[in-house]
Amino acid sequence: MIRIRGLRKKLGTKQVLDGVNLDIPTGCTMVIMGRSGTGKSVLLRHIIGLMQPDEGTIEVEGEIVTGLREQELNEVRKRFGMLFQSSALFDSLTVGENIALPMREHTRQPEAEILRRASERLEWVGLRGVEDMKPASLSGGMRKRVGLARAIAMDPAYILYDEPTTGLDPIMSDVINKLIRSLQARIGVTSIVVTHDLHCAWQVGDRMALLHDGKVEFTGSTSEARETSDPLVKQFIEGTSEGPIHAV
Ligand SMILES: Nc1ncnc2c1ncn2[C@@H]1O[C@H](COP(=O)(O)OP(=O)(O)O)[C@@H](O)[C@H]1O
Ligand SMILES: [Mg+2]
Repeated sequence: MIRIRGLRKKLGTKQVLDGVNLDIPTGCTMVIMGRSGTGKSVLLRHIIGLMQPDEGTIEVEGEIVTGLREQELNEVRKRFGMLFQSSALFDSLTVGENIALPMREHTRQPEAEILRRASERLEWVGLRGVEDMKPASLSGGMRKRVGLARAIAMDPAYILYDEPTTGLDPIMSDVINKLIRSLQARIGVTSIVVTHDLHCAWQVGDRMALLHDGKVEFTGSTSEARETSDPLVKQFIEGTSEGPIHAV
């Protein structure tokens, strides 16, 4: 499992993370909700070691990964796939090359195997025969799915999703939500899904955490979240402007 303890990070003058504690059990899909600008993306960046905390630790399967050197971090990162909010595809490369890139960099697999696997992962996300297209010619939903195919290319144990449905229409959002669930069933990954899309949260989550004012204010199963009397959680999951969170 992933164990986060006392994570603190100041960026500029803002104490973005102010003592985050969170456990993500193996095999579970953890949804992290919170308002825009609360530090959800910052938290994900800490988990894959793109940012280092001022204080606190992150443990992955018993190993403390905060404070590791770049070379050791690279080993840890191989176990993670990340779907960035922007998809983060290289526009100068074809779809196939985008997916092959991490495999070419981090494995010694023969080229034929890399290409076979790129096509296979594209098929898993419902895209066939798009290897030679350029990302710029794809729709937002297709770009997301290419980003996802790349995230799963190296059989990660963990997938981190940053706002996987934001900016997509409801039908494409449903496609992505179903993919998140089917990947969990197919490869048994542990997933962390950062979102403020409530529909997505209910559809994919086993557990939920609410990040607020730099701390995890609630964590529990989706049914516990649904039944809680905690006014902060209630306000968030009901999406109302009335409650302890001020809409400023
Ligand atoms: N690299 C950075 N340098 C300075 N401030 C940052 C940086 N990254 C994020 N922030 C700030 O940290 C806060 C949290 O950002 P972010 O994690 O992106 O929020 P969100 O919950 O919407 O994903 C915001 O106030 C943002 O402006
Ligand atoms: Mg974000």
